[in-house]
Amino acid sequence: MEQHFLDALKWRYATKKMSGKQIPQEKLDQILEAVRLAPSSFGLTPYSVVLVQDKELQAKLLPHCFNQSQIVDASALLVFAPWKNINEDQVDSYMKEIAETRNAPVEALGDFANAIKGKINHSSNEDLHTWASKQAYIALGFGLAAAAVEKIDSTPMEGFNPDGVNEVLGFHEKGLHAACILALGYRDTEKDFLANAIKVRRKKEALFIEA
Ligand SMILES: Cc1cc2nc3c(=O)[nH]c(=O)nc-3n(C[C@H](O)[C@H](O)[C@H](O)COP(=O)(O)O)c2cc1C
Repeated sequence: MEQHFLDALKWRYATKKMSGKQIPQEKLDQILEAVRLAPSSFGLTPYSVVLVQDKELQAKLLPHCFNQSQIVDASALLVFAPWKNINEDQVDSYMKEIAETRNAPVEALGDFANAIKGKINHSSNEDLHTWASKQAYIALGFGLAAAAVEKIDSTPMEGFNPDGVNEVLGFHEKGLHAACILALGYRDTEKDFLANAIKVRRKKEALFIEA
């Protein structure tokens, strides 16, 4: 692995105070592309990623996010929102997408489609929601790493009241449920008490266990 990537991961930290400065569109696009490239179970991608760059909307979200200042000081927020319902129609449109992209007959995907539909039909709504949320968190991770590579500061956030965030963003109508947020912006080096803190992680010997 290029050292560059590990350097980026060491440089990043969950920024507590952002400066309010805008991030360039090209950098945002790179981060969004990394999020899009995140893998998901079966490749179904059972979530949407909602981009918030509207100061008024950010202000409305603030009280639902325990008044964490990154919500309003970030240049952009990515809200990772698993689908509330997962159904066979979504599987069918995914199969169509694969067939079109790979220029192959959709009929050849029957077994694959049935495997996904089998999972959907044999899981409770709650289990499916948990499953979809897990996929969304992988995308959050890709966004976090990509932001670090682009030298954009970020904060992964689940410190919010989902009902309030869902309400402000009209998620009920969209069939979405907010799982986590990625705030993107620039650190305020003077006001962020963590800006120069040494990263704390479990030691290699403690984290990795030989099976
Ligand atoms: C899923 C998730 C949710 C988090 N929620 C918040 C949050 O709401 N507010 C916040 O300031 N930090 C939040 N954090 C940041 C963590 O506290 C931080 O990543 C952790 O302490 C490790 O520090 P580092 O990311 O600065 O290296 C969250 C992190 C993750 C992965």
